[in-house]
Amino acid sequence: MATKQLYIQTMGCQMNVYDSERMAKVLEPFGYSLTDSIDNADLIIANTCSIREKARHKAVSFIGRQADLKKRKPGLILAIGGCVAQQEGKNLLKQSHHLDLVFGTDTLGRLPGLIKRLENGEGRLTDIELTGIIDEIDPYFGEGKSTEASRFVTIMQGCDNYCTYCVVPYTRGREKSRPPEAIVREIISLARAGVREVTLLGQNVNSYGQKEGLPSFAELLAMINNVDGLERIRFTTSHPKDFGDDLIAAISSLDKVCRHVHLPVQSGSDNILKRMNRNYTRADYIEKVTALRAACPDVAIGSDIIVGFPGETQADFDETLSLIDEIGFDGLFVFAYSDRPDAPSSAFGNKVEEKVKKEQLNQLLKIQEETTRQKNAAMVGREIEVLVEGLSKKGQDNQAPQYSGRTETGKIVNFVSENGSSKAQSGTMVKVSIERALSHSLWGRAVQ
Ligand code: 5AD
Ligand code: SF4
Repeated sequence: MATKQLYIQTMGCQMNVYDSERMAKVLEPFGYSLTDSIDNADLIIANTCSIREKARHKAVSFIGRQADLKKRKPGLILAIGGCVAQQEGKNLLKQSHHLDLVFGTDTLGRLPGLIKRLENGEGRLTDIELTGIIDEIDPYFGEGKSTEASRFVTIMQGCDNYCTYCVVPYTRGREKSRPPEAIVREIISLARAGVREVTLLGQNVNSYGQKEGLPSFAELLAMINNVDGLERIRFTTSHPKDFGDDLIAAISSLDKVCRHVHLPVQSGSDNILKRMNRNYTRADYIEKVTALRAACPDVAIGSDIIVGFPGETQADFDETLSLIDEIGFDGLFVFAYSDRPDAPSSAFGNKVEEKVKKEQLNQLLKIQEETTRQKNAAMVGREIEVLVEGLSKKGQDNQAPQYSGRTETGKIVNFVSENGSSKAQSGTMVKVSIERALSHSLWGRAVQ
């Protein structure tokens, strides 16, 4: 079969990265192979994100930019998938006359059928049904074939929490979990392919399987911990309200589960948390973090913060500042609030000025930079296990090859290995002596 070229532009979160891999995988048997060159593509897919207004804008302008390409190459198929497609459906076809297909987040298994219809000359198509099931695709990756040490695996999708600012329940639908057997089968296959680390994905992994009466998330972790060849298990995102003692026990007792937790708090003010519909208080959050740190003293905790939620006052923002100071996060993502279609907070009054949001965002980033710097500095002189991900970007310029990898707590470590590539291949664990702390990474030398 002649090979057709597929170009996928992935935007947004890790779940989209995973979905793009699945799109490539389902289209492969139909003659499509991935290309890095958009100009050579026979099929272009934009896998989009709509979590914030900026992300949606990026998606729509990407599609707009392909109009010329389509003019030059009439046979080219242009498709949009992901969260913007799910939410806006047919309207996108009306807005962009050169677009051929809009497909949603729940129907990746149908993609080959849709593409076939377009190849056969059928007109422009839309398929955005929220089926309520995650399509299972062939989990076989080939023995020793993976070039990556670390991969994502979606374990559940969608969300039932309805935080008032959030678009996810409308773009990914209601919460649904994959069967544990399918997840474990996929991870065994990944480990056989050479993958050493998996990051389990879901909008709220802590409530995995509850609705379906499946094993709990802590039990799923125990099952995955038994997979031969796998070295590390990460997961994201956790919701503070569902972060239970059984999970804390799993993190402290299962050897492959990394002591690294992303636990978005969003705000330090009870008033704002309530209006966000987060279902926990500041005190609840602190209690969970205290319990987690008591069980795993060296755990790294990351978080998300939204600044400028409608009605947020300076006093509310000060509460967020004091929470950040109290917890001392290892990493922080800060977002300026933006209205999303369907999200209830879009209708809330007292919107915060863009200028104020920007100032607050910069203030938080500055504070976090200093905390990260201090935490990184405390690592200097220690010997730390690093999972090698490959040559570092600067590696080739140096006399001794320089590699890049991550610590259990997710910190990037660039290091030299005098032994060369035999010792520091992607996917190997190397002990590194940390010599320098930089603002976003650590630098060290492999211990012989
Ligand atoms: N505006 C700004 N930030 C948002 N997030 C989700 N929705 C919005 C919004 N409307 C942030 C939250 C979430 C992260 C993935 O994106 O902090 O945890
Ligand atoms: Fe959105 Fe809240 Fe669900 Fe996270 S928990 S995906 S913020 S609704």
